[in-house]
Amino acid sequence: PENVGILAIEVYFPYTFVNQEKLEEFDGVSKGKYTIGLGQKNMGFCGDREDINSLSLTVLNKLMERNSLNPMDIGRLEVGTETLIDKSKSVKSVLMQLFEESGNSSIEGVDTTNACYGGTQALFNSLAWVESSAWDGRLAIVVTADIAVYAAGSARSTGGAGAIAMLIGPNAPLVMERGMRSVHMEHAYDFYKPNMSSEYPIVDGKLSLQCYFRALDQCYRGYKEKGRTLYSNPHFNLDDVDYAIFHTPFSKIAQKSFARLMFHDFLYSTKGSGSVEERYQALAEYRNLKLEETFQSEVKAKEIERASMKCSQKIFDRKVLPSLYLAREVGNMYTPSLYGCLASLLFSESIQELRGKRVVFFSYGSGLASAMFSFQVSHDVTSGSPLVKLLESLKDIPARLAARKEVEPVEFLKVLALRENNYNKKNYCPTCSDEDLSTGTYFLINVDEKFRRAYKRK
Ligand code: ACO
Repeated sequence: PENVGILAIEVYFPYTFVNQEKLEEFDGVSKGKYTIGLGQKNMGFCGDREDINSLSLTVLNKLMERNSLNPMDIGRLEVGTETLIDKSKSVKSVLMQLFEESGNSSIEGVDTTNACYGGTQALFNSLAWVESSAWDGRLAIVVTADIAVYAAGSARSTGGAGAIAMLIGPNAPLVMERGMRSVHMEHAYDFYKPNMSSEYPIVDGKLSLQCYFRALDQCYRGYKEKGRTLYSNPHFNLDDVDYAIFHTPFSKIAQKSFARLMFHDFLYSTKGSGSVEERYQALAEYRNLKLEETFQSEVKAKEIERASMKCSQKIFDRKVLPSLYLAREVGNMYTPSLYGCLASLLFSESIQELRGKRVVFFSYGSGLASAMFSFQVSHDVTSGSPLVKLLESLKDIPARLAARKEVEPVEFLKVLALRENNYNKKNYCPTCSDEDLSTGTYFLINVDEKFRRAYKRK
């Protein structure tokens, strides 16, 4: 099959959110820390009516409805998540309920877990299936979904929740770029969830940032290498990238990441030529540095970061900023975060701007797993083309965000306490009102004496 990639995207985020400016005041941190320092505006959160199964049911159902998919046409369904409520039974198996009526039980795939990276691995698996000898001509669906909540403290404002489903198949408007993928994996205890009786992770914030940027360095190095070889272009760099999107726990990290990529380009650029010197003027004093030396001292690392951000600001505004809309409004959705950036980019830019462009993705999941890869936007902008359909289907996101309900920080905290106190309980009936859910949302009715969960759709 040709042009294997993403055919359709569906985005779901919670109906309730808390404002980050109000959260700053409520938490007693300095004004601007969450909004300017981390670059966040609002944070979506779920009451006790929603869990990983309901989020996934909601987004999958919406994807099928909006695209009038015949359940019989789906041959693979994968879920990427780190929000586990069962050590054995997959979320995928729960989703099979949506195929029951059609009689289609022949659907490959189960769940994949590694922090925020599981969705990317699920995507890779589905793309590979379509390209493989096992493919039977049907389509694949990837569901990424998570609820990101933290214990009280500095990480809490980087929470969020949401779900994104993607339809995978041939002749797609977003085509996976074959061969352009680099991967970096290693063992780290930066963020993990060893406590099975709590929804909260154990997180070493500073270490998680170090791991994130180390992974970014490795992936970009590998990705450029692929670009150089595949396209016989010894100068392959950010000039060859039209848009860059990043796993975005908070939107400032995307700006820092892009700046870091430019710093790479600078170190590998040939000294002397007038245009190169002018472009990287703010970085001139670091010319003789080796990449590994940049993190040796914290002060130096900050200096370089600031200079790189200054140097890359204009290009960042063009190539990254349009992808940050959902991340700023909803927060870290974990596995869907990167794909929320993709959706934001697609509804923020015009079809003429997007046409034929290369979008580079950086996926990161603590623990750790990471990858850099790219997709190419189709050239076909004729009316009714797959690209036109895809972009049109995403246009309602800003209005849906605006229609959400704001909840005061004190109430948000009560909801978190409710979730915390009832985590993994049996014989449980949720108490949050189903009024705080948008139409079409699946919600939990009860957990019975054998921990079996029942859902209804609003
Ligand atoms: N006005 C403007 N900026 C401010 C203000 C203010 N009043 N106060 C602080 N800032 C800036 C800081 O200078 C800093 O920016 P800088 O790094 O560019 O200098 C930023 O706001 C954050 O402040 P810190 O003091 O560094 O924040 P803290 O250490 O308390 O927490 C952290 C940040 C570590 C990201 C925390 O939120 C966390 O642990 N989050 C969860 C882990 C995470 O998301 N890791 C990322 C990758 S792994 C994953 O996705 C889960």
